[in-house]
Amino acid sequence: METWDAIRSRRNVRAYEDRQIGEEDMDRILEAARRTPSSSNKQRWDFVVVRDKDRLKRLSAIWQGARHIPGSAATIALIGPDPKEERDRISVAYDMGQLTMSIMVAAADLGIGSGHSSAHDQEVARDVLEIPEGQRCWWLIGLGYPADRPLRPIEKPDRRPLEDLVRYEKW
Ligand SMILES: Cc1cc2nc3c(=O)[nH]c(=O)nc-3n(C[C@H](O)[C@H](O)[C@H](O)COP(=O)(O)O)c2cc1C
Repeated sequence: METWDAIRSRRNVRAYEDRQIGEEDMDRILEAARRTPSSSNKQRWDFVVVRDKDRLKRLSAIWQGARHIPGSAATIALIGPDPKEERDRISVAYDMGQLTMSIMVAAADLGIGSGHSSAHDQEVARDVLEIPEGQRCWWLIGLGYPADRPLRPIEKPDRRPLEDLVRYEKW
């Protein structure tokens, strides 16, 4: 897929076919994550790829918005530090957001759907993923082939119109 088509095709996919993601495709998605820019190139992140059905099910207790996780072919848990200082916290959060979008666009490029989940309950994350002290799970990204319809460019996205949100030169 062209980059432009991948960007326009990505949407939250929360229902997945019962079909595994091939190793090469998974490696490509993880490589896209690895290449993500980060604040001072600190790369304060680690990825845990979860495919085991029992583990995915247990992980879905992390948040009410994680109901799609058990049905995913694989879920990537984004792990990173848990800084107390606001400045660091903002920059880690920004990096995690960029990471998420790299993963999602790379997946869309391969026709693979993706869906965010917040990681509210860190006790669940710690129990299921065995994350080391001082780290937290920032987000879960469920991945899998869409069960509803294939990814294709969305002509009319549910977004505010550009003329409402862009200003030039000054507010
Ligand atoms: C910061 C953030 C947190 C989100 N958390 C969840 C979540 O917990 N569960 C979920 O199903 N979707 C979650 N989403 C997905 C959004 O609801 C979705 O991106 C938004 O409605 C736009 O839809 P689209 O991704 O299909 O374009 C989250 C998205 C973002 C950016």
